[in-house]
Amino acid sequence: MAAAAVASSFQLSMAAVIALVMVAATFSAAPVAAGPVPAIYVLGDSLADVGNNNHLVTLLRADFAHNGIDYPGHKATGRFSNGKNSVDFLADSLGLASPPPYLAVAKNSNANYANGVNFASGGAGVSNATNKDQCLSFDKQLDYLSSVSASLAQSLGQSQAATHLAKSLFAITIGSNDIIHYAKSSSSSSDPSPQPFVDSLAQTLSAQLQRLYDMGARKLVFLGVGPVGCCPSLRELSSTKDCSAVANDAAVRYNAAAASLLGAMAAKHADMSYALFDSSAALLRFIDSPAANGFAEAKAACCGLGDMNAKIGCTPLSLYCANRTGYVFWDFYHPTEATARKLTAMAFDGSAPLISPMNIRQLSAL
Ligand SMILES: *[C@@H]1O[C@H](CO)[C@@H](O)[C@H](O)[C@H]1NC(C)=O
Ligand SMILES: *[C@@H]1O[C@H](CO)[C@@H](O)[C@H](O)[C@H]1NC(C)=O
Repeated sequence: MAAAAVASSFQLSMAAVIALVMVAATFSAAPVAAGPVPAIYVLGDSLADVGNNNHLVTLLRADFAHNGIDYPGHKATGRFSNGKNSVDFLADSLGLASPPPYLAVAKNSNANYANGVNFASGGAGVSNATNKDQCLSFDKQLDYLSSVSASLAQSLGQSQAATHLAKSLFAITIGSNDIIHYAKSSSSSSDPSPQPFVDSLAQTLSAQLQRLYDMGARKLVFLGVGPVGCCPSLRELSSTKDCSAVANDAAVRYNAAAASLLGAMAAKHADMSYALFDSSAALLRFIDSPAANGFAEAKAACCGLGDMNAKIGCTPLSLYCANRTGYVFWDFYHPTEATARKLTAMAFDGSAPLISPMNIRQLSAL
Protein backbone atom coordinates (compact mmCIF):
# COMPACT_ATOMS: atom_id res chain seq x y z
CA MET A 1 0.00 0.00 0.00
CA ALA A 2 1.99 2.72 1.21
CA ALA A 3 5.44 3.23 0.41
CA ALA A 4 7.12 4.42 -2.50
CA ALA A 5 5.50 4.02 -5.64
CA VAL A 6 5.77 2.91 -8.99
CA ALA A 7 7.34 2.31 -12.17
CA SER A 8 7.58 5.40 -14.20
CA SER A 9 10.91 5.77 -15.86
CA PHE A 10 10.95 2.02 -15.73
CA GLN A 11 10.17 1.82 -19.42
CA LEU A 12 13.41 3.52 -20.47
CA SER A 13 15.76 1.50 -18.36
CA MET A 14 14.18 -1.84 -18.91
CA ALA A 15 13.18 -1.85 -22.52
CA ALA A 16 16.21 -3.85 -23.50
CA VAL A 17 15.76 -6.58 -20.97
CA ILE A 18 12.10 -7.31 -20.80
CA ALA A 19 10.49 -9.82 -23.03
CA LEU A 20 6.86 -9.03 -23.56
CA VAL A 21 5.25 -12.29 -22.72
CA MET A 22 1.54 -12.26 -22.23
CA VAL A 23 0.63 -14.59 -19.44
CA ALA A 24 -2.93 -15.63 -19.00
CA ALA A 25 -3.69 -16.71 -15.48
CA THR A 26 -6.67 -18.74 -14.48
CA PHE A 27 -8.52 -18.35 -11.25
CA SER A 28 -10.98 -20.47 -9.44
CA ALA A 29 -13.75 -18.77 -7.54
CA ALA A 30 -13.46 -18.85 -3.77
CA PRO A 31 -16.62 -19.35 -1.74
CA VAL A 32 -18.36 -16.17 -0.66
CA ALA A 33 -17.12 -15.39 2.84
CA ALA A 34 -19.56 -15.46 5.71
CA GLY A 35 -18.06 -12.47 7.56
CA PRO A 36 -19.39 -8.94 7.52
CA VAL A 37 -17.23 -8.11 4.49
CA PRO A 38 -18.23 -10.34 1.57
CA ALA A 39 -15.61 -9.06 -0.86
CA ILE A 40 -12.85 -6.54 -1.55
CA TYR A 41 -12.74 -4.39 -4.67
CA VAL A 42 -9.33 -2.86 -5.30
CA LEU A 43 -8.41 0.18 -7.38
CA GLY A 44 -5.01 1.78 -7.71
CA ASP A 45 -1.43 1.52 -8.88
CA SER A 46 1.50 -0.90 -8.72
CA LEU A 47 1.34 -1.04 -4.94
CA ALA A 48 -1.85 -3.06 -5.39
CA ASP A 49 -1.52 -4.54 -8.91
CA VAL A 50 -1.78 -8.34 -8.81
CA GLY A 51 -1.32 -8.90 -12.52
CA ASN A 52 -3.52 -6.59 -14.58
CA ASN A 53 -0.55 -5.19 -16.44
CA ASN A 54 0.40 -8.71 -17.59
CA HIS A 55 -2.55 -8.35 -19.93
CA LEU A 56 -1.56 -4.99 -21.38
CA VAL A 57 0.98 -4.08 -24.00
CA THR A 58 3.17 -2.13 -21.63
CA LEU A 59 6.68 -2.06 -20.23
CA LEU A 60 5.28 -1.30 -16.75
CA ARG A 61 5.21 -4.90 -15.66
CA ALA A 62 6.68 -7.27 -13.13
CA ASP A 63 5.85 -10.73 -14.44
CA PHE A 64 9.47 -11.85 -14.50
CA ALA A 65 12.21 -12.74 -12.01
CA HIS A 66 13.34 -11.70 -9.50
CA ASN A 67 9.87 -10.44 -8.67
CA GLY A 68 7.90 -13.06 -6.79
CA ILE A 69 11.03 -14.78 -5.46
CA ASP A 70 9.32 -15.09 -2.05
CA TYR A 71 5.78 -15.56 -3.39
CA PRO A 72 4.28 -19.04 -2.99
CA GLY A 73 5.87 -21.17 -5.72
CA HIS A 74 8.45 -18.38 -6.34
CA LYS A 75 6.04 -17.16 -8.97
CA ALA A 76 6.34 -13.80 -10.74
CA THR A 77 2.62 -13.02 -10.84
CA GLY A 78 2.89 -9.41 -11.95
CA ARG A 79 3.11 -8.08 -8.40
CA PHE A 80 5.79 -5.41 -8.05
CA SER A 81 7.25 -7.16 -5.03
CA ASN A 82 9.40 -10.04 -3.88
CA GLY A 83 6.26 -11.57 -2.42
CA LYS A 84 2.82 -10.43 -1.41
CA ASN A 85 1.65 -6.84 -1.54
CA SER A 86 -0.59 -4.88 0.78
CA VAL A 87 -3.91 -5.96 -0.69
CA ASP A 88 -2.84 -9.59 -0.31
CA PHE A 89 -2.26 -8.94 3.39
CA LEU A 90 -5.51 -7.02 3.68
CA ALA A 91 -7.38 -9.99 2.21
CA ASP A 92 -5.50 -12.38 4.51
CA SER A 93 -6.51 -10.28 7.51
CA LEU A 94 -10.16 -10.60 6.52
CA GLY A 95 -9.94 -14.31 5.77
CA LEU A 96 -10.65 -13.66 2.11
CA ALA A 97 -8.75 -14.68 -1.02
CA SER A 98 -6.83 -11.80 -2.56
CA PRO A 99 -9.09 -10.61 -5.38
CA PRO A 100 -7.85 -11.62 -8.83
CA PRO A 101 -6.87 -9.16 -11.57
CA TYR A 102 -9.89 -7.84 -13.42
CA LEU A 103 -8.33 -8.36 -16.85
CA ALA A 104 -7.85 -12.06 -16.10
CA VAL A 105 -11.38 -12.58 -14.75
CA ALA A 106 -13.08 -10.62 -17.50
CA LYS A 107 -11.80 -13.14 -20.08
CA ASN A 108 -14.25 -15.74 -18.79
CA SER A 109 -17.62 -15.56 -20.45
CA ASN A 110 -19.37 -16.24 -17.14
CA ALA A 111 -17.04 -14.21 -14.95
CA ASN A 112 -18.01 -14.03 -11.29
CA TYR A 113 -17.34 -10.71 -9.61
CA ALA A 114 -19.11 -11.40 -6.33
CA ASN A 115 -15.88 -12.44 -4.58
CA GLY A 116 -14.17 -9.18 -5.39
CA VAL A 117 -11.84 -8.12 -8.14
CA ASN A 118 -8.69 -6.04 -8.43
CA PHE A 119 -8.48 -3.26 -11.02
CA ALA A 120 -5.13 -1.83 -9.87
CA SER A 121 -2.58 -1.24 -12.57
CA GLY A 122 1.11 -0.41 -12.29
CA GLY A 123 1.79 3.14 -13.41
CA ALA A 124 -1.74 4.45 -12.80
CA GLY A 125 -2.28 7.90 -11.38
CA VAL A 126 -5.12 10.19 -10.39
CA SER A 127 -4.47 12.01 -13.62
CA ASN A 128 -5.23 10.38 -16.96
CA ALA A 129 -1.99 11.78 -18.28
CA THR A 130 0.19 9.83 -15.84
CA ASN A 131 1.78 6.97 -17.79
CA LYS A 132 -0.89 7.41 -20.43
CA ASP A 133 -1.46 4.27 -22.53
CA GLN A 134 0.93 2.28 -20.32
CA CYS A 135 -1.62 1.26 -17.69
CA LEU A 136 -5.29 1.28 -16.74
CA SER A 137 -5.83 4.85 -15.63
CA PHE A 138 -7.89 5.36 -12.49
CA ASP A 139 -10.74 6.64 -14.67
CA LYS A 140 -10.55 3.48 -16.76
CA GLN A 141 -10.61 1.36 -13.60
CA LEU A 142 -13.79 3.17 -12.57
CA ASP A 143 -15.26 2.44 -16.02
CA TYR A 144 -14.54 -1.26 -15.47
CA LEU A 145 -16.07 -1.11 -12.01
CA SER A 146 -19.19 0.28 -13.60
CA SER A 147 -19.44 -2.81 -15.84
CA VAL A 148 -18.81 -5.05 -12.86
CA SER A 149 -21.55 -3.34 -10.93
CA ALA A 150 -23.95 -3.82 -13.85
CA SER A 151 -22.95 -7.47 -14.10
CA LEU A 152 -23.59 -7.97 -10.37
CA ALA A 153 -26.99 -6.34 -10.66
CA GLN A 154 -27.79 -8.82 -13.40
CA SER A 155 -26.59 -11.90 -11.52
CA LEU A 156 -27.73 -11.01 -7.99
CA GLY A 157 -30.58 -8.62 -8.68
CA GLN A 158 -30.46 -4.85 -8.24
CA SER A 159 -31.12 -4.69 -4.52
CA GLN A 160 -28.92 -7.69 -3.56
CA ALA A 161 -26.09 -6.24 -5.63
CA ALA A 162 -26.41 -2.88 -3.88
CA THR A 163 -26.32 -4.59 -0.48
CA HIS A 164 -23.32 -6.66 -1.52
CA LEU A 165 -21.34 -3.62 -2.67
CA ALA A 166 -22.30 -1.60 0.40
CA LYS A 167 -20.88 -4.31 2.68
CA SER A 168 -17.72 -4.80 0.62
CA LEU A 169 -14.46 -2.95 1.16
CA PHE A 170 -13.18 -0.69 -1.59
CA ALA A 171 -9.42 -0.40 -1.20
CA ILE A 172 -7.75 2.46 -3.04
CA THR A 173 -4.10 3.31 -3.49
CA ILE A 174 -3.47 6.08 -5.99
CA GLY A 175 -1.40 9.25 -6.29
CA SER A 176 2.22 8.10 -5.98
CA ASN A 177 2.85 8.13 -9.71
CA ASP A 178 1.44 11.62 -10.16
CA ILE A 179 3.75 12.86 -7.42
CA ILE A 180 6.81 11.05 -8.78
CA HIS A 181 6.26 12.61 -12.18
CA TYR A 182 5.80 16.00 -10.59
CA ALA A 183 8.97 15.67 -8.52
CA LYS A 184 11.03 14.45 -11.44
CA SER A 185 9.99 17.38 -13.56
CA SER A 186 10.61 19.93 -10.80
CA SER A 187 13.93 21.49 -9.97
CA SER A 188 13.56 21.52 -6.22
CA SER A 189 15.43 24.72 -5.44
CA SER A 190 13.55 27.10 -7.69
CA ASP A 191 10.12 25.49 -7.57
CA PRO A 192 7.17 27.16 -5.93
CA SER A 193 4.95 25.32 -3.46
CA PRO A 194 3.43 22.08 -4.73
CA GLN A 195 0.05 23.17 -3.36
CA PRO A 196 -1.48 24.17 -6.73
CA PHE A 197 -0.41 20.82 -8.17
CA VAL A 198 -1.87 18.96 -5.19
CA ASP A 199 -5.09 21.01 -5.36
CA SER A 200 -5.56 20.02 -8.96
CA LEU A 201 -5.00 16.33 -8.15
CA ALA A 202 -7.44 16.60 -5.26
CA GLN A 203 -10.08 18.11 -7.51
CA THR A 204 -9.81 15.16 -9.91
CA LEU A 205 -9.72 12.68 -7.03
CA SER A 206 -12.83 14.23 -5.52
CA ALA A 207 -14.86 13.54 -8.66
CA GLN A 208 -13.43 10.01 -8.85
CA LEU A 209 -14.34 9.19 -5.24
CA GLN A 210 -17.81 10.60 -5.76
CA ARG A 211 -18.16 8.34 -8.78
CA LEU A 212 -17.14 5.40 -6.61
CA TYR A 213 -19.85 6.33 -4.10
CA ASP A 214 -22.40 6.70 -6.88
CA MET A 215 -21.60 3.16 -8.02
CA GLY A 216 -22.44 1.83 -4.56
CA ALA A 217 -19.17 1.86 -2.59
CA ARG A 218 -19.89 2.57 1.08
CA LYS A 219 -16.77 1.33 2.92
CA LEU A 220 -13.62 2.95 1.61
CA VAL A 221 -10.09 2.05 2.63
CA PHE A 222 -7.87 4.83 1.33
CA LEU A 223 -4.18 4.09 1.55
CA GLY A 224 -2.48 7.45 1.33
CA VAL A 225 0.76 7.82 -0.59
CA GLY A 226 4.03 6.98 1.10
CA PRO A 227 7.05 9.25 1.42
CA VAL A 228 7.75 8.79 -2.29
CA GLY A 229 10.74 11.12 -2.07
CA CYS A 230 12.53 8.38 -0.10
CA CYS A 231 12.13 5.65 -2.69
CA PRO A 232 15.58 4.58 -3.91
CA SER A 233 14.97 6.00 -7.38
CA LEU A 234 14.41 9.55 -6.16
CA ARG A 235 17.16 9.30 -3.53
CA GLU A 236 19.62 8.18 -6.15
CA LEU A 237 18.96 11.39 -8.12
CA SER A 238 20.17 13.49 -5.20
CA SER A 239 23.89 14.13 -4.89
CA THR A 240 23.64 13.59 -1.13
CA LYS A 241 21.35 10.54 -1.50
CA ASP A 242 18.76 12.28 0.63
CA CYS A 243 15.02 11.93 0.19
CA SER A 244 13.43 14.34 -2.27
CA ALA A 245 11.89 17.03 -0.08
CA VAL A 246 9.67 18.22 -2.93
CA ALA A 247 8.15 14.76 -3.38
CA ASN A 248 7.71 14.15 0.34
CA ASP A 249 6.13 17.55 0.81
CA ALA A 250 3.70 16.88 -2.04
CA ALA A 251 2.89 13.47 -0.53
CA VAL A 252 2.03 14.99 2.86
CA ARG A 253 -0.13 17.65 1.21
CA TYR A 254 -1.87 15.09 -0.98
CA ASN A 255 -2.68 12.88 2.02
CA ALA A 256 -4.05 15.91 3.85
CA ALA A 257 -6.20 16.76 0.83
CA ALA A 258 -7.48 13.17 0.71
CA ALA A 259 -8.32 13.35 4.42
CA SER A 260 -10.32 16.48 3.91
CA LEU A 261 -12.11 15.08 0.84
CA LEU A 262 -13.08 11.87 2.62
CA GLY A 263 -14.16 13.75 5.72
CA ALA A 264 -16.42 15.96 3.62
CA MET A 265 -17.88 12.98 1.77
CA ALA A 266 -18.68 11.12 4.98
CA ALA A 267 -20.29 14.27 6.39
CA LYS A 268 -22.45 14.56 3.30
CA HIS A 269 -23.32 10.86 2.99
CA ALA A 270 -24.35 9.34 6.32
CA ASP A 271 -24.17 5.84 4.82
CA MET A 272 -20.50 6.11 3.86
CA SER A 273 -17.54 5.19 6.11
CA TYR A 274 -13.83 5.12 5.54
CA ALA A 275 -10.42 4.37 6.98
CA LEU A 276 -7.57 6.56 5.81
CA PHE A 277 -4.02 5.33 6.29
CA ASP A 278 -1.22 7.86 6.57
CA SER A 279 1.29 5.77 4.67
CA SER A 280 3.71 8.63 4.65
CA ALA A 281 4.01 8.93 8.43
CA ALA A 282 3.92 5.16 8.86
CA LEU A 283 6.68 4.39 6.39
CA LEU A 284 8.83 7.27 7.59
CA ARG A 285 8.97 5.50 10.94
CA PHE A 286 10.67 2.55 9.25
CA ILE A 287 12.96 4.80 7.23
CA ASP A 288 13.95 6.97 10.19
CA SER A 289 14.42 4.08 12.65
CA PRO A 290 15.04 0.92 10.64
CA ALA A 291 16.51 -1.18 13.44
CA ALA A 292 13.67 -0.40 15.85
CA ASN A 293 11.28 -1.66 13.19
CA GLY A 294 13.16 -4.82 12.29
CA PHE A 295 14.97 -3.54 9.21
CA ALA A 296 18.68 -3.34 8.40
CA GLU A 297 18.49 -1.29 5.17
CA ALA A 298 16.00 1.51 4.54
CA LYS A 299 17.69 3.37 1.69
CA ALA A 300 18.97 1.06 -1.02
CA ALA A 301 16.73 -1.27 -2.99
CA CYS A 302 17.10 -5.00 -2.52
CA CYS A 303 16.86 -5.77 -6.23
CA GLY A 304 18.31 -3.63 -9.00
CA LEU A 305 21.54 -2.37 -10.49
CA GLY A 306 23.76 0.63 -10.01
CA ASP A 307 24.08 3.05 -7.16
CA MET A 308 21.78 1.94 -4.30
CA ASN A 309 20.44 -0.71 -6.70
CA ALA A 310 18.33 2.18 -7.96
CA LYS A 311 19.59 2.96 -11.46
CA ILE A 312 17.80 0.02 -12.98
CA GLY A 313 14.78 -1.85 -11.70
CA CYS A 314 14.44 -5.48 -10.75
CA THR A 315 15.00 -7.64 -13.82
CA PRO A 316 16.38 -11.14 -14.31
CA LEU A 317 19.80 -9.51 -14.79
CA SER A 318 19.65 -7.45 -11.60
CA LEU A 319 21.36 -8.29 -8.34
CA TYR A 320 19.24 -8.91 -5.27
CA CYS A 321 19.82 -9.06 -1.55
CA ALA A 322 19.94 -12.33 0.36
CA ASN A 323 17.87 -11.17 3.31
CA ARG A 324 14.68 -9.64 1.93
CA THR A 325 13.07 -9.20 5.33
CA GLY A 326 15.84 -6.77 6.26
CA TYR A 327 15.08 -4.32 3.42
CA VAL A 328 12.37 -1.67 3.37
CA PHE A 329 12.48 -1.40 -0.43
CA TRP A 330 12.29 -4.25 -2.89
CA ASP A 331 13.14 -2.30 -6.04
CA PHE A 332 13.69 1.34 -6.89
CA TYR A 333 10.03 2.25 -6.30
CA HIS A 334 8.34 -0.53 -4.34
CA PRO A 335 8.35 -1.85 -0.79
CA THR A 336 9.31 -5.40 0.10
CA GLU A 337 6.76 -7.92 1.24
CA ALA A 338 8.09 -7.41 4.78
CA THR A 339 7.28 -3.69 4.58
CA ALA A 340 3.83 -4.33 3.10
CA ARG A 341 3.05 -6.85 5.84
CA LYS A 342 3.98 -4.45 8.63
CA LEU A 343 2.19 -1.46 7.10
CA THR A 344 -0.99 -3.45 6.54
CA ALA A 345 -0.94 -4.66 10.14
CA MET A 346 -0.73 -1.01 11.28
CA ALA A 347 -3.64 -0.04 9.03
CA PHE A 348 -5.73 -3.01 10.08
CA ASP A 349 -5.39 -2.82 13.84
CA GLY A 350 -3.63 0.49 14.46
CA SER A 351 -5.01 3.78 15.68
CA ALA A 352 -5.06 7.49 14.90
CA PRO A 353 -3.22 9.44 13.69
CA LEU A 354 -1.86 6.70 11.41
CA ILE A 355 -5.24 5.17 10.58
CA SER A 356 -8.34 7.29 11.04
CA PRO A 357 -11.14 7.94 11.83
CA MET A 358 -11.21 4.18 12.45
CA ASN A 359 -8.98 1.25 11.58
CA ILE A 360 -9.76 -1.33 8.92
CA ARG A 361 -10.93 -3.92 11.43
CA GLN A 362 -13.48 -1.45 12.78
CA LEU A 363 -14.56 -0.40 9.30
CA SER A 364 -15.01 -4.04 8.33
CA ALA A 365 -17.20 -4.75 11.36
CA LEU A 366 -19.69 -1.98 10.56
C1 LIG B 1 -9.71 11.04 -18.85
O1 LIG B 1 -9.92 10.16 -19.94
C2 LIG B 1 -11.29 9.87 -20.18
C3 LIG B 1 -11.34 8.90 -21.32
O2 LIG B 1 -10.58 7.76 -21.05
C4 LIG B 1 -12.06 11.13 -20.46
O3 LIG B 1 -13.42 10.81 -20.60
C5 LIG B 1 -11.89 12.11 -19.33
O4 LIG B 1 -12.52 13.32 -19.64
C6 LIG B 1 -10.44 12.33 -19.06
N1 LIG B 1 -10.31 13.16 -17.89
C7 LIG B 1 -9.54 14.23 -17.86
C8 LIG B 1 -9.53 15.01 -16.59
O5 LIG B 1 -8.84 14.54 -18.80
C1 LIG C 1 17.40 -10.44 8.16
O1 LIG C 1 17.47 -9.11 8.59
C2 LIG C 1 16.69 -8.83 9.75
C3 LIG C 1 16.79 -7.34 10.03
O2 LIG C 1 18.11 -6.95 10.19
C4 LIG C 1 17.17 -9.68 10.90
O3 LIG C 1 16.35 -9.44 12.03
C5 LIG C 1 17.09 -11.14 10.51
O4 LIG C 1 17.63 -11.94 11.55
C6 LIG C 1 17.85 -11.41 9.22
N1 LIG C 1 17.63 -12.77 8.81
C7 LIG C 1 18.63 -13.58 8.47
C8 LIG C 1 18.25 -14.95 8.02
O5 LIG C 1 19.80 -13.22 8.49
